[in-house]
Amino acid sequence: MAEGKKKDNVDPNRRAVIIGGAAAVAGIAAGIVIGGYAFPRTTKVIQPQVTVEKEVSTVTQVSTTTTTVPTQVPQQVGYVKQKVANISQLTSPGQYVTTMYMGYLVYIIKTGVPSENGVGPNNDIVGFSASCAHMGYILVYDPSNNCLLCPQHFSQYDATRGGMQVVGHPNQFLPQLILEYEESTGDIYALGFNRLVYGTYNTALQGLAQMSGGGNS
Ligand code: FES
Repeated sequence: MAEGKKKDNVDPNRRAVIIGGAAAVAGIAAGIVIGGYAFPRTTKVIQPQVTVEKEVSTVTQVSTTTTTVPTQVPQQVGYVKQKVANISQLTSPGQYVTTMYMGYLVYIIKTGVPSENGVGPNNDIVGFSASCAHMGYILVYDPSNNCLLCPQHFSQYDATRGGMQVVGHPNQFLPQLILEYEESTGDIYALGFNRLVYGTYNTALQGLAQMSGGGNS
């Protein structure tokens, strides 16, 4: 009797809420199950790409014939071949010729001893730019020690050793002329400088411009 009363005492609104909640939970569960079947989860398996490298054996064939490998000969691009002296002007050690090569003042010197890049019967004739590698002042040749001296800051370059700096400011050699000696005539030709002459960024190009009257620009 008392229990029946209890049942009857349940608030109808509360009962509706409980019933509604239970129905919602049941619906969600059913949705999950149905959704699982309707939209099965797929897993994309990414296969790693495997690259198989074949070993290639190299067979070296030994040729029995002789192959001539072409020799790379450095070219003096842009310089011109120009006569700068004759052997008759350089008969004694210490003699020198002052001349112009492609618009640059140069010395052609007979050192009297076999010298680096020297030409002539004794390989003792060399040529150099007359402009100091430090700031371009005109050098003076001193036969007593075979050096080119700078009167401005007293640098010295050894004419027998390719213009190597022996005293002073510049950390470089004096630009040397590449010379060629023609035995039949005794003529000495300049083929170009082995370094940039002071104040030039392209000695050959600017020399050509000077020769054609374009100036040293
Ligand atoms: S210009 Fe010749 S040492 Fe300075």
